[in-house]
Amino acid sequence: MNLPPKVKLREVSTRDGFQSLQEFIPTEKKLEIIEAIAKAGVKEIETTSFVSPKAIPHLRDAAELMSRVPRGGISHAALVPNLKGAQNAINADVEQLVVVISATEAHNQENLWRSIGESLADLDGIFKLAQDKSVAVTGAIAVSFGCPYQGDVSEEEVFMLVEAYISRGATRIILADTTGMASPTRVEKMVRQFRTTFPDMDFALHFHNNRGTAMANLLGGIMAGATVFDTALGGIGGCPYVPQAAGNLPTEDVVFMLEDMGVSTGIDLEAIIRAAQLLEKILGYTLPGQVMKSGPRDPKLAAKICGVGTPQ
Ligand code: COA
Ligand code: ZN
Repeated sequence: MNLPPKVKLREVSTRDGFQSLQEFIPTEKKLEIIEAIAKAGVKEIETTSFVSPKAIPHLRDAAELMSRVPRGGISHAALVPNLKGAQNAINADVEQLVVVISATEAHNQENLWRSIGESLADLDGIFKLAQDKSVAVTGAIAVSFGCPYQGDVSEEEVFMLVEAYISRGATRIILADTTGMASPTRVEKMVRQFRTTFPDMDFALHFHNNRGTAMANLLGGIMAGATVFDTALGGIGGCPYVPQAAGNLPTEDVVFMLEDMGVSTGIDLEAIIRAAQLLEKILGYTLPGQVMKSGPRDPKLAAKICGVGTPQ
């Protein structure tokens, strides 16, 4: 296999993961999770969203959370749906804004209550504000690999938005499989086409596991040259506007697999498993992550961290 020496994981559990929960997680608990993630060696966190508290009440504490997060060595990103969100995020000293637009009209209407054209019209203001304050902007594209309302999504639909972001000065693009509709060959094709069309552009892949293909999609992305991935502790997450939303790739599962394959993530496996276990304790129910239950390959370590016995 042709593998890169290292990849970067962007932790999205406290944004993508918390936005669709049943209950509000107190700021104090969110901070405990963020500190555990940071201790494990994660360098980039999508910490929260600056969105309407009516739309996503779980993230209404975004400004307070940002005033208390560990800084130094960690870059905090926040999702912003509009200019007001961008202003609030910058006031809260977020290092990176993540703007999101869906590749299809139907999903954009569902998620942001407006057309793609209206979302695009907002971009100039957001980019200008961010550039004035030297804050980086990442352009995310939801439903890049398929849409629960429209079905197939064309490369043209995705690349039109990529161009809109790049022409305004985006420093990274996120191609998101919001509804888990990708398969490894679709990912490989999209990534190769992306790298051919936008050779100098940094990009990340964001996979949901609705159909059990997320980890295979990550490998498909790696084989095609992708090196930045969104993952979430314990595999939590999901778009609140997608039927049967399923979680993200569990960070600890990705760390386990890639490190075992000789691809460095810069994240300590034991510490990230413990962070996932802390999250499970806080949420009070079993999370989808596997490695947080089975532990590392070393049987003694697996017994120590996960309490699993040696098989007879
Ligand atoms: N932060 C805080 N409040 C915001 C806001 C933001 N970014 N954007 C809008 N609001 C407030 C307005 O001030 C207004 O408040 P009021 O009713 O007290 O006057 C209210 O929300 C409605 O504002 P409006 O501009 O009409 O927005 P909207 O009702 O059309 O909502 C969104 C559009 C996009 C702001 C809202 O749907 C949203 O935040 N969605 C979240 C999307 C998301 O995170 N999806 C999952 C991630 S992919
Ligand atoms: Zn997501």
